[in-house]
Amino acid sequence: MIRMNEHYLKLQASYLFSDIAKRVSAFQEAHPDREIIKLGIGDVTRPLPMACIDAFHRAVDEMGDISTFRGYGPEQGYGFLREKIAREDFQSRGANISPDEIFVSDGAKCDTGNIQEIFSTDISIAIPDPVYPVYLDTNVMAGRTGFYENGRYHGIVYLDGTRENGFIPDLPKGKVDLIYLCFPNNPTGATISKSQLQRWVDYARENQSIILYDAAYEAFIQDPDLPKSIYEVDGARDVALEFRSFSKSAGFTGIRCAYTVVPKACEAFTGRGEKHPLNTLWHRRHTTKFNGVCYPVQRAAEAVYSDEGKAQAKALIDYYLRNAALIRQEISALGYDCIGGDHSPYIWVDTKTDSWAFFDQLLEKAGVVCTPGAGFGRCGEGYIRISAFNHYEKVEQAMRRIREVL
Ligand code: MLT
Repeated sequence: MIRMNEHYLKLQASYLFSDIAKRVSAFQEAHPDREIIKLGIGDVTRPLPMACIDAFHRAVDEMGDISTFRGYGPEQGYGFLREKIAREDFQSRGANISPDEIFVSDGAKCDTGNIQEIFSTDISIAIPDPVYPVYLDTNVMAGRTGFYENGRYHGIVYLDGTRENGFIPDLPKGKVDLIYLCFPNNPTGATISKSQLQRWVDYARENQSIILYDAAYEAFIQDPDLPKSIYEVDGARDVALEFRSFSKSAGFTGIRCAYTVVPKACEAFTGRGEKHPLNTLWHRRHTTKFNGVCYPVQRAAEAVYSDEGKAQAKALIDYYLRNAALIRQEISALGYDCIGGDHSPYIWVDTKTDSWAFFDQLLEKAGVVCTPGAGFGRCGEGYIRISAFNHYEKVEQAMRRIREVL
């Protein structure tokens, strides 16, 4: 008799954003005349930068010509893209990262979800709360947790993000092997300073832990003193992996390109205490299970680093940050405490009430979709997340409707 992976039975109903999409479709079906404004999932609405489109077109043409046609590409990503990434995203900021430490992929969601495979199933894991659900759900699927009870899985060290700590969790009390961090944070929009991040890196070095640092929203950082990469912090090369994406920084959610940095200095141990470089393990995993990102998409991603591409990508970020500023200003004016929106596309709103009830109220009365904080964990109860990814006029309209109903 074929047996299933019973760890899946521990998971909560469905993936948060699928659950929300289902509720929104059911509402739309029941009210076909209502126009719904989506400020829920962080999906971009602006077209790709023209520099990327031009590069994309040129690369498609190359695929139609016998002299420039390409078949399978390198699974780790083409050298032309990895070299640009290493130079522009890291070396230019004093972070010593080389092209062979970069793995191009089709998304930070897949990478942050798959990376746990290279670690033992019996390690201890610290996960923030509230959190992007992928980190937790993929560890549940892999069997690293016990059952779900009172909003939490047994066997996970939760790092509480609260109003009191500004949604920057404190270090774990004891020793933990694997730590997930995300800054600028999804869902709260909180940012971390270099000195705060240094404490995490020092902790990981002392405890032979690894930090999985999700920097998918770094492009939204406006303050030059805030770190865009964990490798701007001393000693991080030995203990941290970093995840980046072109999705939010250059509008690639529909064409898919991201990358993960695995420094050669990062190591994990066998049961007998022998060290192994994580770069070799991830390389083995990536080349075995991943086909690579298609050539035209990698050329489009490379174009983000041209002068034109940089200016056009910055214009996208500025556009969404203008939306974010409007949301934060309007929601604050209604008397709600908010954080985020200044270095992030997300505004985290303290509703002081059941977050799914608040979600339903905004959907039913204002026709506006947000994300209920409880979907990101127990500490998210009482909050909602509003995304700034939409057209400015739609955001204005959503804010007008919210003002009327609240
Ligand atoms: C979000 O809304 O949290 C993100 O869009 C999810 C993702 O990037 O996968």
